[in-house]
Amino acid sequence: MFRFLTAGESHGPQLTVIIDGVPAGLEIDAARDLDPDLRRRQGGHGRGKRQQIERDSAVITAGVRGGRTLGSPIALTVVNRDWDNWKGPMQVEAEEFTKKAVTRVRPGHADLAGMLKHDLDDARDVLERASARETAARVAAGGVAKTLLRVAGASISSHVVRIGDVVAPSGGTVDPAVVERSAVRCADPVAGSRMVEAIDAARAAGDTLGGTAVVTGHQVVAGLGSYAHWDRRLDGRIAQAMCSIPSVKGVELGDALLAAASPGSQVHDRPAYSADRGFHHLSNRQGGLSGGVSNGADVWARVHFKPISTLLTPLRSVDVHTGEEINAHYERSDVCVVPAGAVIAEAMLALVLAEAMLEKFGADSIAELARNLDGYRAGLSRLR
Ligand SMILES: Cc1cc2nc3c(=O)[nH]c(=O)nc-3n(C[C@H](O)[C@H](O)[C@H](O)COP(=O)(O)O)c2cc1C
Repeated sequence: MFRFLTAGESHGPQLTVIIDGVPAGLEIDAARDLDPDLRRRQGGHGRGKRQQIERDSAVITAGVRGGRTLGSPIALTVVNRDWDNWKGPMQVEAEEFTKKAVTRVRPGHADLAGMLKHDLDDARDVLERASARETAARVAAGGVAKTLLRVAGASISSHVVRIGDVVAPSGGTVDPAVVERSAVRCADPVAGSRMVEAIDAARAAGDTLGGTAVVTGHQVVAGLGSYAHWDRRLDGRIAQAMCSIPSVKGVELGDALLAAASPGSQVHDRPAYSADRGFHHLSNRQGGLSGGVSNGADVWARVHFKPISTLLTPLRSVDVHTGEEINAHYERSDVCVVPAGAVIAEAMLALVLAEAMLEKFGADSIAELARNLDGYRAGLSRLR
């Protein structure tokens, strides 16, 4: 079973990930396979000062020997350089610990719900873990998942299509090189510049912006997931994974909203056969997913991010110690995280697809995984 678990507070010493279920023999190198995505996650116009402090890089501390996975749990750490500035408030030991409680809870953040849930009197106890700093650990784990998916020829990409009210034109080709060069991961340079301006205007006004990213799994083998059980459906699992990203409030699999507003005659992807492509669909409005199963087309989703809840011009809120109406707490914050969120969405899609791939082609070594994939693909061609 492929699974992963993260630990670590935003301003603690480090983030830790344990990934279990990766077959033996996967060639992996942190600098080559994990660090580039960690850097991509740190980027994007609209990020706050924290990203100037951090230099995210993964250190593999278990499960890999001589550049190859052993089949045992993989452990990774990502250091929080900002820990140096937080050693007092975030110290582990009780001795000489002086707490300066955060009590002015932020609207839209986890502060109040977390304090009520765990009976806490300091929002810092909540926000340190609710913070999206944790997603650096997921991106490191996602790098392992992407490396695994490459064995099956699959890859993942993302791009931003909306920031605030600036929308990129739809239907154009998405050049990955243009996306990677864009300050906001937008495939359209004109829309990208307007997005940058919108973020600058929000920053100047002490405000924040959300938006929408598209995440795509390319060359995903048909047959992952299942229509037989609600919790094995790949569509449901992808939606859950996307909604688990802090500030994601909506996921659209394929052209879901358009489909909801259109008659069936204009919605459904027509299956076809050709000698070179085998069975395929003539369009891909259903996001590469039929009945909760990957159908061989690209798996794609739109992921909708709400605006960041910590505003430089604070919203009105309440002090949880006094019940008094006050301005919400402000702590160094991002203005817009949609470009970074797109990279996190890539990691989450990779993790879900890697899990589904190992479920179907379960293997203890990469050689066995490759054989199982080859055998399955040979069977698929017999369908013709
Ligand atoms: C990459 C990334 C960075 C984020 N940075 C901030 C931030 O600087 N300040 C903030 O208030 N929220 C930030 N958030 C959003 C909060 O983590 C999130 O709103 C909060 O945990 C509550 O969860 P919810 O919005 O899903 O309900 C960020 C989210 C992501 C994906």
